[in-house]
This record gives sequence, C-alpha cells and structure tokens, in this order.
Amino acid sequence: MMLDMPNRDQNTEKPAGEIYGIADDFPTPPDLPGRVVVAPHADELIDKLAMELVLHAETCVREFGDFHLALSGGSTPEPLYRRLMYDPDYRKLPWRRTHLWIVDERCVPLDDERSNYRMIRETIVEHADIPREQVHPMPAEDKRADHAYEKELRDLLGWRERGQDRLDYVLLGMGADGHTASLFPHTEPLRERERLVRLNFAEHAEPHERITMTFPMINTARFIAVLVTGQKKAPTLERVAAGDATEEELPIRGVRPLEGQLVWYLDGAACGDSSQSNGTTT
Ligand code: 6PG
Repeated sequence: MMLDMPNRDQNTEKPAGEIYGIADDFPTPPDLPGRVVVAPHADELIDKLAMELVLHAETCVREFGDFHLALSGGSTPEPLYRRLMYDPDYRKLPWRRTHLWIVDERCVPLDDERSNYRMIRETIVEHADIPREQVHPMPAEDKRADHAYEKELRDLLGWRERGQDRLDYVLLGMGADGHTASLFPHTEPLRERERLVRLNFAEHAEPHERITMTFPMINTARFIAVLVTGQKKAPTLERVAAGDATEEELPIRGVRPLEGQLVWYLDGAACGDSSQSNGTTT
C-alpha cells in the first residue's frame, strides 16, 4: 500500500481528506515541498525508493553512458543498501556504469565503525560489480579533504556535456535536529554559495569533525531523495512542513533543487502514525 502524491508546492491541491489507499485513520502526511511518497512500513517504502532509483539509473546510463550516485550514511539507509544487493529486482542497477560518491563523512579512518564509507563499502561496494576506480570515498583523514573531493567531483563530472555535469541522484537523510548531510544547524557551511564540499564541526554530534557536500552541490542534482523513517523524526518533519523555521534552524530546508526533482520517502511512523512503529531507525 503506497501513497504517492504531488504536493501543493507543485500547484496540485491535495484533495481535502483524500488519502490514496491508506486507512482512514492514517495521519495526513506532512505537507513538504516536492513530491511525498509514503508507505506504512519502512520495507514497502524501501521497495518504492529502490524501484525508482533503478529506473533513474537506467535512464541516466541510456542518456549519458554513466550514472553519478551520491549516498548518505547514518543508520536509516542501511536496509535499503542491503536490499539493493540481495533483491533480484534491484540487482539490475547498472553498477558497472555507476560512479559512487559519498554525501558526507565523519573524519575517522575509512575502516572505523563510525565511517559512512565503511558502511557503504560493507553493504554495497563489496557485493556490487562496480569498478573500484568508480568508487569515491571522501579522504576523511586528509586535512584538505574538502578541496581534494571537490576537485575529484569537478574532474569527473567535467567529462559530461555542459549542463549535464551534475550528480544524477543524491540520497539524503535527516537528523531529528533537522540536519542533512553534515550540514548542522547554525554552522557556517550552511551559508556556502560556491564551494561544493566543506569541512564542518558538529558540536552536538559524534564525531565532531565532518566533511560534507554543500547546498550548491546537492541542489544541482537531477534527483534528490530524502529518506526519513521512525517516530523520532515526525515532529521535525512537522516543523519543516510548517515552513516557519529558517534553514539555519532546520538545515534540511536548504534542500531546494535548482532544476531537479525533490522526493521525500516517509514511513508511517515518520508521519506520526504510532500504530506503524516497527522498530525502524530513528
Ligand atoms: C551521517 C549522515 C546524516 C544522516 C542523518 C540521519 O553521516 O550521519 O549522512 O546526514 O543522514 O544524521 O541519520 P540516521 O539515519 O542515523 O538517523
């Protein structure tokens, strides 16, 4: 059972009280900017996301010959990454033509338990037939990691025709404090307008030192998916939908694709449906 509806911001008025195919007592999903895809359970949500990701990848490979994919870490997308590897429906993602980038990283060794790349390597890289030279971990221990990664992005995307030299798909998560990537509330890289990658310091997150793609990089992507599951994120999504917090307070509000699509993938718990809490990550 899936709810997949355009949002008011795309000039499509949500019919009052009509919620596609979901039980009457299901809470109204938050009115977020972009398209909102809701499934009661995280498993169904992952199916929907994975299906659209594979289609998108295939289209890009047909059109450009390759697919530039940037993935986030954190705990929410882990089940998705595993599903991409073991579910035959999604194994067909054209990994041999994919460049795999990392949205943000913790400044720890790449085999550290806390490293986003470590999780992505263990769940995807070791099981997909992606050529190693197409895998781009952030050089987390390098003092100039931000400059080095930006150069790598510019060099590789620069092979594309002008206008197509952008990421094809960015998968983001959201913290309960509204951060996305490693763009934390009231931190300076939120205001970056030129550089594509920045170092950051997260006072309230562990480890503090981070590297992150910035909004100028993220917002030029062809497709931005924000995957949010679990009850703990529901109040934050409500605040994002209310629209009165600034992006300094809720950085996720800074996700505004210039020409691409923005799609939110939410499970029931993230929409405030307490009956759907199934122990998904927070
Ligand atoms: C990270 C991220 C970060 C993440 C959110 C949500 O390195 O932690 O890339 O932006 O998406 O913090 O994290 P969870 O999925 O663990 O809740």
